[in-house]
Amino acid sequence: MGMSEVKRVAFVTGASRGIGRAVAERLAREGRHVVLVSRTAGPLNDLRASIEAAGGSASTVCCDVGDSAALTDAIAETARTLGRLDILVNNAGITRDGLMLRMSDEDFDEVIRVNLRSAFIACRAAARPMMSNRWGRIVNISSISGRIGRAAQVNYCAAKSGLIGMTKAIAKEFATKGITANVVAPGFIETDMTADLPEAIKEEARNITPMRRFGQVREIAAAVAYFASEDAGFVTGEVLAVAGGMGM
Ligand code: NAI
Repeated sequence: MGMSEVKRVAFVTGASRGIGRAVAERLAREGRHVVLVSRTAGPLNDLRASIEAAGGSASTVCCDVGDSAALTDAIAETARTLGRLDILVNNAGITRDGLMLRMSDEDFDEVIRVNLRSAFIACRAAARPMMSNRWGRIVNISSISGRIGRAAQVNYCAAKSGLIGMTKAIAKEFATKGITANVVAPGFIETDMTADLPEAIKEEARNITPMRRFGQVREIAAAVAYFASEDAGFVTGEVLAVAGGMGM
């Protein structure tokens, strides 16, 4: 993978664990400075220490991505203190699953706010520093559920599918500015988000996945790293499913 002269700065939301953590570690291994973003300091500091112990470079930002002003400030502050912002990975996400007839307005709104609106806020804030360098890589983490739908996830599917449309709009708006925007759509991945699913649901998940297994976080991180790479400069508005064949 081609490396540039400058040390690229990557802002990764939801970096404390799971997919976000794997993405942060991978980008750090590739020589990027990684800004680790999540709500609580403890896990971020541990991750920062482990990245630094491995020879990488990282800093931490505590921020609720559902808080528009806080997220906007965090991005502006990152660009100001580090002098640049090159890569944005919108990964933070939550589920509030439930059948539609029983889903509250609050559970709908909260999932849209954390999973979709936050990505809009972050992209809008990051676009300025990216434009000033005429280089940027936006990678939004959607879900295969956003493509194929899933019962008891009306809110989550709306947000994840919204991310795909939004990313394509951003890709078109910034296509001539050196900024790409792409989507990674994971299938079922082994993380805390899926750990608590009842065994029957896990079994169903394997059955609807042609490869008959859950994916690993590093398999998502590799796809993100590609979209974030120097080499992916002619790739924009794409959705890459990393889902063991689900949804093909
Ligand atoms: P996870 O629950 O293990 O980690 C989520 C991360 O987001 C944590 O670091 C958490 O602290 C952070 N986060 C949540 N709400 C936040 C907020 N309001 N402000 C700041 N940070 C917040 O989840 P996982 O599995 O690593 O998922 C990461 C992304 O991948 C999510 O967007 C999820 O929807 C998506 N995804 C996950 C799949 C899976 O099977 N695990 C499948 C498809 C998509």
